[in-house]
This record gives sequence, C-alpha cells and structure tokens, in this order.
Amino acid sequence: MPGVVVIGTQWGDEGKGKVVDFLSQNMDLIVRFQGGNNAGHTIVVKGEKVIFHLIPSGILNPKKVCAIGNGVVIDPSVLKEEILFLEKRGILGDGRLAISEKAHIIMPYHKKIDIARERLKGKSRLGTTGRGIGPAYEDKVARIGIRVADLFDEDTLREKIKLNLMEKNPFLKEVLGEDPYREEELYQWLMDFKPMFKRFVGDVGSLVEEYLERGRKVLFEGAQGVMLDIDHGTYPYVTSSNTVSAMASIGSGISPKHIKTVIGVVKAYTTRVGEGPFPTEIKGDLGNHIREKGGEYGATTGRPRRCGWLDLNIVNYARCLCGIDAFFVTKLDVLSGLDKVKVCTSYKNFPRKGFPASKGDMYNIEPIYEELKGWKEGIKGARRFEELPGEALEYLRFIEEKTGTKIIGVSVGPEKEETIFKEDLR
Ligand code: GDP
Ligand code: IMO
Ligand code: MG
Repeated sequence: MPGVVVIGTQWGDEGKGKVVDFLSQNMDLIVRFQGGNNAGHTIVVKGEKVIFHLIPSGILNPKKVCAIGNGVVIDPSVLKEEILFLEKRGILGDGRLAISEKAHIIMPYHKKIDIARERLKGKSRLGTTGRGIGPAYEDKVARIGIRVADLFDEDTLREKIKLNLMEKNPFLKEVLGEDPYREEELYQWLMDFKPMFKRFVGDVGSLVEEYLERGRKVLFEGAQGVMLDIDHGTYPYVTSSNTVSAMASIGSGISPKHIKTVIGVVKAYTTRVGEGPFPTEIKGDLGNHIREKGGEYGATTGRPRRCGWLDLNIVNYARCLCGIDAFFVTKLDVLSGLDKVKVCTSYKNFPRKGFPASKGDMYNIEPIYEELKGWKEGIKGARRFEELPGEALEYLRFIEEKTGTKIIGVSVGPEKEETIFKEDLR
C-alpha cells in the first residue's frame, strides 16, 4: 500500500488536515499535488490551532518529508510565512521540505485580478478566496505562467514578466480599474524569494518516484473537495484545479500505477463556503447550531460556512470518480445532542446517478432524505467503535450500507488523539 491519496468528498473543509496529520504517523513522505493557499488545513495540537495553506499537514510529525508538487500554485509570501513559523519552532530541519521546480507562482497581479473580477461580477460572483488561484491556473494553461524554475533563469524571467504585463496592465487599468505593475517591481519581488526557493527547490516527481520504488509510504494530500473540481464539480462554482484522486499522479509527477489506496474524507454533515448550489443546505436555527457547534468558519478567509445534512448522493459521486476504497468520517461529535439526523440518499428531479451538469438543474434538484435517530451523549472521549452510542454506530453503518464502502476511521474531535481508527494502514 505505498501510495495513498486522501481526498475531500464534499465541498472542502472535511477535516483533511486532521486526517492527514493522523495518517502521516505511518507514512514517509507527504505530498500536496493541487490547489494553493485557497486551502486551509487545520491541525490542533494540545489545544493550539495550526493552519497550513501550502505546506503539507504531515510536517508536524517529526522526520517526515513533505513535498509541494508541480500541480500546486504557490504564493511565495504565504510559503515564506509558513516556513518561518516552522523554523521558529525548530521543526524544519534539512531535507524535510521539497518544492517542485515546475510549480507555478501566484503573482501579485493574479490576486488583484481575482479580487477585482469578483467585485465586478457583483451578485454573480463565485465567492472565491481572493488568493489569485483562478488567474494563476489560467496563465498556466495559457502557457504564460511563471514557474519556480524561472527564478533561476534571469533572461526567461524578465521576458515572461514583460509578456505578462503587456496583457495584464491594460486589462487591470481599463477593464478592472486597478493600478498597473512595473516590470522591475515584479522582478525584484520575485528575487526576494529566490533564496527561499533555492533552499527547497528540486525534482519532486523523481523524489516521490524514488520513495515509491523503494517501497516507502507516500501520502498524497488533496485540497478542496470533489464538488469543487474544475471538471466534475458544481461548475462554475468550483475552484480552478482538478481535486479528484487522479490529480495526485499528475500533480506530483508520478505514474498513476503507484496509487494503491484512496481514502475519502467525509464530514458527518455537509458544509460549503462561497456561492453555488448546495442541495442539503439547512437555513435557520439548526444550520446556525451546526455552524457554531462545529466551528464552521473558513480556515482561510474566516467566512461563515453554509451548513447542511450529509448528502450521500455526492459522497457516492466522489466515490465513483475517485475510486475511493475507504472513508474517514469526521466531526461526528458535532451531531451529538440532536433528536434526529437526516441523510440525503437521492434527489427528486434527477433520476440518474451522479450530479447534474447544468446550473439550472443543480439548483432545481431536491434532496430525498432518510431520517435516523440522533444520540444525546457527547462522544469526544470515544476511542473505539464499541464506545460509541448505538445510534451513532447506526449512522456510520447507514453510510457504509448506502455507499458499499467501509469506514476505516472516525474523528470525534479536532485533536489527533480524538480519533477512532479501525484498520492499521501499515
Ligand atoms: P480541511 O480543509 O479539510 O483540512 O478542513 P478545515 O481545517 O478547513 O476544517 C475542519 C475544521 O474542523 C477544523 O477547525 C478542524 O480543527 C476541525 N475538526 C476536524 N476534525 C474534527 C472533529 O472530528 N470534530 C470537531 N469538532 N472538529 C474537527
Ligand atoms: P480546503 O483545502 C472550502 C472554494 C471557495 C470558492 C471556490 C473558488 O481547505 O478544503 P478559489 O479561491 O479556489 O478560486 O475559490 O472554491 N474553496 C474552498 N472551499 N475549502 C477549500 O479548501 C477551498 N478552496 C477553495 O470558497 O467557493
Ligand atoms: Mg479547509
């Protein structure tokens, strides 16, 4: 089981950071393969919250090596902050972090364009994180993006900045009403980060390949969730990268044959931050109760997350798209104290499997729920499945039955120890 992918099965914020930190104990290398600092992965250690946006969530486990793959878009200032944080604590020893030379850089103009475009769209905005993710991926596909490797080639870098500003400056000024950039200013901005990149840059694909060839364990840490995938999510209310498991091979530079296990992280209910369809959303008191109890505020932007019942239709969709072998269910403790819990198993107005593709249909579907008994007791202290109340076990069994997929772990609190783990992945 050398290559394991951990993927979010909903709209992100499923608790991937906590799960990755937990599973990393038995891994050798942890790799981020897509997204950027739109991600906010939270780890809680003895009551202290640490949020990683770019560096893999395994980094707090001593001696594990972490890598940022070619599929990630990097804002150098965010990366620098995370590196400084780790260094201050003496965590970032030599050889613990590798950054792909092929990863693209989020430039200041990407961020500015992202924010200004959202403003311009008004009510039609997507609710992006405003981190420049979309514009950075656009440039990658348009073949004008600046990659980490370019920082070490002055002529290419200057040429690329010039070409970019030829297009970006008129767009910024005339369409978005923003200030333009000067070539030299951007060149110097990048040069300030060159020593940082020099220290960590490398051929991440070969590194990961070498680990896998030697039979060592590699965990691929997904960001966002399947419903935010650029192709398969609730387009256009999605992020700008592929978030499905297949991306783990493309975004880290290894053969897909190395991926042996895919673990889907399923929050015991559903949340979504940003605009877009959300069939099982609960508005009003109950939605607010879940938000407060679950601390459902964005780890990146602080925005309140929309909350709703578990939607097994989308979890099943994610299972098919990603080849999920097992689920890790998180935040089960948040549902304690409810008289009844509802789970969506299919939709009205949409008879087939999967999820509709047209925007109108996405908003038109209505969930069909099955109702299960709730449980009164707090469950944060449970460390074995047998210690859970019968109704909570029934809830988990229901998920397994409706998806035909086993649950290997359940998270009952934000701390690493607050975990029930069934199957040893070693
Ligand atoms: P990610 O983006 O998927 O890594 O998830 P986030 O970190 O954005 O959001 C998950 C939030 O839930 C964080 O605040 C975690 O500390 C917290 N969390 C994770 N697992 C649990 C759990 O089992 N119970 C509770 N109560 N909180 C959890
Ligand atoms: P993690 O990894 C939840 C959402 C944004 C917005 C849409 C597009 O922490 O689960 P973008 O800035 O990517 O162009 O925004 O995607 N989004 C996330 N929602 N968790 C995330 O990451 C997200 N990353 C992006 O809110 O709706
Ligand atoms: Mg998050």
